[in-house]
Amino acid sequence: MTKVIGIDAYAVYVPRLYVDMANEWPVVRAPQMGEESPEKLRGKVISGVGVKKMAVPDGHEDSATMAAMAAKRLIDENGIDPSDIGILAIGTETTVDQSKSMAAYVLGMLEDHYGKSLPHVGTPQVQFACIGATYALEAAVNQFRAGENTRRYAIIIATDISKYPLRSAGEYTQGAGAVALLVCENPRLLELEPGVTGTVTRNERDFFRPNWSSTAVVDGKYSIDVYLDCIEGALSEYTSRRAAKRIAHDGHNGHNGRNGHDGRNGSNGAETTRSSIYGELDHLLFHVPFPRMAEYAAARVFSTLWESEPSLAGELHKVRASLENPDDRRELQRALMKSEAFRAEFSRRTEPSLELSREIGNVYSASLYLAFASLIEQAVKRGQELEGQRVLFCSYGSGASAKVFSGKVAPRWREVASRARFAEELRPVADGGRRVEIDVNEYERLHGHAEVERGHANGVAIIGPPRSVLPPRGEFVLARLGDAVTPKITDHGYRYYAFTG
Ligand SMILES: CC(C)(COP(=O)(O)OP(=O)(O)OC[C@H]1O[C@@H](n2cnc3c(N)ncnc32)[C@H](O)[C@@H]1OP(=O)(O)O)[C@@H](O)C(=O)NCCC(=O)NCCS
Repeated sequence: MTKVIGIDAYAVYVPRLYVDMANEWPVVRAPQMGEESPEKLRGKVISGVGVKKMAVPDGHEDSATMAAMAAKRLIDENGIDPSDIGILAIGTETTVDQSKSMAAYVLGMLEDHYGKSLPHVGTPQVQFACIGATYALEAAVNQFRAGENTRRYAIIIATDISKYPLRSAGEYTQGAGAVALLVCENPRLLELEPGVTGTVTRNERDFFRPNWSSTAVVDGKYSIDVYLDCIEGALSEYTSRRAAKRIAHDGHNGHNGRNGHDGRNGSNGAETTRSSIYGELDHLLFHVPFPRMAEYAAARVFSTLWESEPSLAGELHKVRASLENPDDRRELQRALMKSEAFRAEFSRRTEPSLELSREIGNVYSASLYLAFASLIEQAVKRGQELEGQRVLFCSYGSGASAKVFSGKVAPRWREVASRARFAEELRPVADGGRRVEIDVNEYERLHGHAEVERGHANGVAIIGPPRSVLPPRGEFVLARLGDAVTPKITDHGYRYYAFTG
């Protein structure tokens, strides 16, 4: 029998500094970007793109410190003995070294902090734009299923700093943060479903970051199209595999479909004793480079799945009949997004997953898992029951690859969710949170700092981390960059991390 493997708990870490997109930023940028007025730019970013604030890493932070902070939280909040961790895998597209796995740096930080030597831990780093952590999660889950992870836990960390050139259309979709997932057998939070994952890969140029650049090169509108096409392809494989599994299951047990959309409602009529695949998906989560993207993706996914959903196919056909070009996918998606049926379904099944992203911005590989954290937090806040509900994950990474997979919320989910108070931390310090707003000057200073990657061992001076805005306290920091090339030690460019008390 296949083991039940999944997500036992999660922890989120986000830098304390942020830029508020409603304040000074649009005033400074509107003339620089040729926008009609600050109000227009503000409206576009907050309503059109969906971002209210973007998290900015302080001078002593990078993707590795954020990953270590998320892992530390996960370990402390769940009382984990670090010796029980067999795999510490990282998914990132903003790595700190061209060769060494960031996970080895993070393991070192945790070993120092907990005073334990953990040489048995496997520490891969998986890179594929925003889908890297999903590939890392899949590999770890399969190691458990194959009995290859002999320890109790795996920790998968998605960590990234989203960075585009200043004054570009990507600038207002930046952000930073890390999400750590605790994976084990018989998880308390989410049981991942085996044998249904859909995968698509296409060799694309929609978004990439050349070795010499600290900011991404992106063809914004094209990246949206590639995202939607890849998700649709992966979804198609997911639905076929789900359907095949159902037939195999029915063959063994006689017809025994799930009743109603969420397993709680009764059904009516022979045909509907089995619900549609859409009807079995209680929550649809997407990769969220910016919150509106989830809406575009939902429109594409709904327009595919509603065809075989008896209660919604009529709505879809009504929208299609109103179009000049009913076969134009974009036209259909745009019209569907405006329909009442879409608004109701979207607000129930996807909107709760976007709350954290609006407050943080793009966290690349962590964004899908931040959406999951957001769903859990919103359910606690609204007093909603999630047990037994199915969550669909639509993961995407530019370049390009998509994976669609699902899991069921486990009976003990509340044990984990009761600690979910991350949204409270996102308030400014004055409101009882831990965040501090910075002005555009300070943000540009941190954004523009040229790091050690520009140096090399042929006499070029090492440029250390930028000056911090907030003195670090109780956190992992990038303490210094090595600058020695001597017969005794060669560490030019090596990153030294420490924990500040
Ligand atoms: C996402 C991105 C393409 C947006 O580009 P843009 O040229 O700034 O934005 P647009 O002109 O398309 O406007 C975005 C939305 O805001 C709306 N909008 C514009 N001005 C507005 C205003 N004042 N008030 C409200 N909405 C407004 C637009 O109508 C549009 O919404 P719609 O798609 O429903 O029509 C750009 O930020 C980008 O390149 N980001 C990085 C790449 C990325 O994240 N890709 C995603 C796939 S991984």
